[in-house]
Amino acid sequence: MKTINEFIQAKEEGRKITMISTYDYWSARICEEAGVDCILVGDSAGMVVQGLETTLPVTLDEMIYHAKAVRRGAPGTFVVVDMPFMSYQVSVEDAVKNAGRIMKETGANAVKLEGGEEIVHIVEKMVGAGIPVMGHLGLTPQSVHALGGYRVQGRTEEQQKKIIKDSKILEQAGVFAIVLEAVPSALAKEITEFVEIPTIGIGAGPYTDGQVLVFHDMMGFFDRSPKFVKRYLEGKKLFLDALKKFSSEVQEGKFPQKEHTYD
Ligand code: KIV
Repeated sequence: MKTINEFIQAKEEGRKITMISTYDYWSARICEEAGVDCILVGDSAGMVVQGLETTLPVTLDEMIYHAKAVRRGAPGTFVVVDMPFMSYQVSVEDAVKNAGRIMKETGANAVKLEGGEEIVHIVEKMVGAGIPVMGHLGLTPQSVHALGGYRVQGRTEEQQKKIIKDSKILEQAGVFAIVLEAVPSALAKEITEFVEIPTIGIGAGPYTDGQVLVFHDMMGFFDRSPKFVKRYLEGKKLFLDALKKFSSEVQEGKFPQKEHTYD
């Protein structure tokens, strides 16, 4: 299993970091077998496996449920768990308690929080309590309504300045890595050169120290994908074909055969 020091060392040595966002035992097993560096139990679970419009309704108990399954599937992989909306914003005490629950109950290695300067006091407390924290800047989906939708961040000079400043503030507060989501690649490059901790991009171009994709997106389980997703498989088509074949074989009496039957 990788450690936070190894992620920082990877950046120093120019080795790219791979991270996959996923939520269950089965996919975590495949990620571990494939040698993915890090699994993120993302609150994108709300959209991807619960069919919600946003990540906002996802609860701490749901994240813990997903993270336990992932840990069982990938006992040897570094696992980061998203702290869901309102599990860390209300008070520092709540935030540390909730992060502690994630660490104790799931066996995760770290938590991820969205935001910059406004959450720095929370990050400091968690890091002080021995909880590794990953930051998340740019498009922060828990603030979708405040941002006016899912849109690329850091297009204006003012936004760029804030994201760059936030990245340094988070680094100084002790985060071991920062996810940069949906920002122009030039900005991601500037931040990656500016901080000593690794940046992990999603929709942030090729210059970050690592890349993260959502398992179900890269496997092509949805009809359409955002521009930044590469579909490494047309999973939906494969599953659909298999299900149709199953139905027709059952109807036609072709399944089950002798080899599927107990004498
Ligand atoms: O929730 C998630 O899966 C994430 C990644 C997209 C970075 O935060």
